[in-house]
Amino acid sequence: MKKHKHQQPLRLCFLLPVFLFFQSISAVDFVFNGFNSSDMLLYGLAGVESRILTLTNRTYYSIGRALYPEKIPAKNPNSSYVYPFSTSFIFSMVPYTKTPPAGYGIVFIFVPVKGIEGADPAHYLGLLSFTNNGNPDNHVFGVEFDVFKNEEFDDISANHVGIDMNSLKSNASHNTGYWPDNSSNADDEKSFKELKLNSGENYQVWIDYSDSLINVTVALAGMKRPGKPLFNVSLDLSEVFEDEMYVGFTSSTGQLVESHKILAWSFSNSNFSISEELVTTGLPSFVLPKDSIFRSKGFIAGITVGGFCGVCLCALFALFLIKRKRRGVREREEMEEWELEYWPHRMTYIEIEEATRDFSEENVIGTGGNGKVYKGVLAGGAEIAVKCISHENDGVREFLAEISSLGRLKHRSLVGLRGWCKRDKGNFFLVYEYMENGSLDKWVFECDDRKMLSCEDRIRILKDVAFAVLYLHEGWEAKVLHRDIKASNVLLDKDMNGRLGDFGLARMHGHGQVPNTTRVVGTVGYLAPEVIRSGRASAQTDVFGFGVLILEVMCGRRPIEVGKPALVDWAWHLMGQGQLLNALDERLKARGEFDEEEVGRVLHLGLLCAYPDPSSRPTMRQVVKVLEGNNEVLDEVESEDMDVYLLRKMKPMGRWSEIPRDFGSSSHPTFEDIRQSHSSSMSFSWSNSMAEGR
Ligand SMILES: *[C@@H]1O[C@H](CO)[C@@H](O)[C@H](O)[C@H]1NC(C)=O
Ligand SMILES: *[C@@H]1O[C@H](CO)[C@@H](O)[C@H](O)[C@H]1NC(C)=O
Ligand SMILES: *[C@@H]1O[C@H](CO)[C@@H](O)[C@H](O)[C@H]1NC(C)=O
Ligand SMILES: *[C@@H]1O[C@H](CO)[C@@H](O)[C@H](O)[C@H]1NC(C)=O
Ligand SMILES: *[C@@H]1O[C@H](CO)[C@@H](O)[C@H](O)[C@H]1NC(C)=O
Ligand SMILES: *[C@@H]1O[C@H](CO)[C@@H](O)[C@H](O)[C@H]1NC(C)=O
Ligand SMILES: *[C@@H]1O[C@H](CO)[C@@H](O)[C@H](O)[C@H]1NC(C)=O
Ligand SMILES: *[C@@H]1O[C@H](CO)[C@@H](O)[C@H](O)[C@H]1NC(C)=O
Repeated sequence: MKKHKHQQPLRLCFLLPVFLFFQSISAVDFVFNGFNSSDMLLYGLAGVESRILTLTNRTYYSIGRALYPEKIPAKNPNSSYVYPFSTSFIFSMVPYTKTPPAGYGIVFIFVPVKGIEGADPAHYLGLLSFTNNGNPDNHVFGVEFDVFKNEEFDDISANHVGIDMNSLKSNASHNTGYWPDNSSNADDEKSFKELKLNSGENYQVWIDYSDSLINVTVALAGMKRPGKPLFNVSLDLSEVFEDEMYVGFTSSTGQLVESHKILAWSFSNSNFSISEELVTTGLPSFVLPKDSIFRSKGFIAGITVGGFCGVCLCALFALFLIKRKRRGVREREEMEEWELEYWPHRMTYIEIEEATRDFSEENVIGTGGNGKVYKGVLAGGAEIAVKCISHENDGVREFLAEISSLGRLKHRSLVGLRGWCKRDKGNFFLVYEYMENGSLDKWVFECDDRKMLSCEDRIRILKDVAFAVLYLHEGWEAKVLHRDIKASNVLLDKDMNGRLGDFGLARMHGHGQVPNTTRVVGTVGYLAPEVIRSGRASAQTDVFGFGVLILEVMCGRRPIEVGKPALVDWAWHLMGQGQLLNALDERLKARGEFDEEEVGRVLHLGLLCAYPDPSSRPTMRQVVKVLEGNNEVLDEVESEDMDVYLLRKMKPMGRWSEIPRDFGSSSHPTFEDIRQSHSSSMSFSWSNSMAEGR
């Protein structure tokens, strides 16, 4: 069923004037109705199974790419004229049962080289990477079928088709679907039929390019091609394309996985009718059986953004009602299959009782906001920390929030949730991985000098935490705010790696939605001014908390100490006098083993993060870059004053430009001045807010 006709001279009976223009170029056309593994160059997870090109499987954080083995002439080297092309393919995106939502999408690509270098998994779609995204030297063109709404790339939805030129920020995009032929008014938005990309259905795509116009059309496989394309864009590919390009598909998995499959593919640069040779019927179906609500399309669609939490909570409440009367060792057997896979495991009370030796006082390792924390050892030998949550103080809500978010989040710098247990109406337990070295605040504030953390260790731990917060903000399909970043919520594992814990206050938000909580949550001293004012948390308020964390860890001072100026005010004042390095922990200074440049950079970063105006704070992504000492950033520093440099670099257009650059002079504004100027309605100072909060 396969036909190759490449490198044949162009047939002259095909008389589109456009094509006569480049007669000397050999035509390339091919049709694959099913693949075999020698048909394509396969990279990463890509493979051929039962004649289907399978780009990804359930392996997390990986790329799958398949390219046609030979380069295709893409533009005329003499005139830069981009040759037309016409391609059509049938794909299926199949979520694995019981692990919805799924990600991340398929991209039809033109790339200049073989292989997958310069591509990252997850929301980079295996197309580009964190470092090269947007670079005009990429020479990468893609048509993305994207099921992840990424704010960073201004994605319009979690179900869109986009045109990508050297960047994942699409030049044009549209929700996936088609315009039915029979609708009386083709432009009527109401007639648009949306197609859910990762429903497991087989979809056919047509992409036609000629004379700087590209048409993209999508339909259910087997359907007649809709007369009106989903969308068209006029674009000049002459700068993007090299003379010859590889063509194929790329895809990725991240924290989310799904199987991305290509069932058939045709391509031609000479015959726009070639797609007629695709076999579009009698194809295997990958639509998931509707045998449980958790596998139905409705559920998958419902949970993609935002709705997830609600569904989880309902399901969990239903579960509570059903299970109310049952407990003991039989619980586990009574659990539904999905329950076991879907959540972190539910454990029995007996298991937890045994692990903590009947909640012995000797096993108490801490007291959280809601109750005691016990150390325990499970029957298998695994060490755990059990956090008790009581019904008062919104215990139920925190409990549900915590398992519905933390349970699904996995990152090496987050404290993993192993399971949970409900004792009775009043008491819940959360079972975490045990962190051998306890919380960071003990190491910073209560340690004797001998065991004190070195400057290097402190910065390394801050980096770990920064990665964890970045993951919460961007690594997941819904933005997760931590809301309570502070030293006592950072735990250290046996290798002294920093791990962010305690998501009791986290709430999930679909990317792009404005969180509307009005209850102030967090800890005094770490709360951003706008949170105190409005009660509204955001990614920027987490950045603020992280800034305070940097300062307290580096300065060895709690954010608020009786009889002293607030930490942020104090550090800001020192920077104003050009003496920021003096803010460093006295004990570290006494030891003298530190890299002044790095410490200066980290302290500045702390101040930037804790800047009063939320819009001037860096994003966690920028924070990570600076902490990593990104060379790109550093090369530019050279002789420039670090203060000036960071301020300029982090917010070139923002309000930092208003700050006088003569840092040594007494006209330098105080932290308070700037806070006042950015938040006129705010009339407290740090010490006042402490007084209110205490
Ligand atoms: C795969 O395709 C190649 C090229 O068309 C062909 O020579 C080969 O026999 C095919 N192999 C299988 C197992 O079908
Ligand atoms: C996914 O595919 C890769 C490469 O084909 C293979 O090595 C790996 O074992 C597969 N993983 C799973 C979970 O199927
Ligand atoms: C480009 O110009 C050279 C020299 O005039 C000619 O030999 C070649 O065929 C041209 N290439 C194309 C693709 O037109
Ligand atoms: C178009 O066709 C579909 C299916 O054939 C039908 O359900 C729909 O009512 C038709 N719409 C119009 C406007 O004729
Ligand atoms: C794009 O579609 C329009 C019809 O909507 C058609 O006139 C045009 O020729 C198409 N262009 C290409 C490059 O296929
Ligand atoms: C491109 O799409 C727009 C909007 O649907 C339409 O008005 C226009 O005619 C299309 N252009 C071509 C060349 O098909
Ligand atoms: C596509 O978008 C990039 C940046 O998003 C921009 O630089 C480029 O000019 C755009 N190209 C076209 C043809 O619109
Ligand atoms: C273009 O492709 C169609 C479908 O395969 C075929 O019928 C037609 O003969 C082709 N035209 C040329 C000029 O090759």
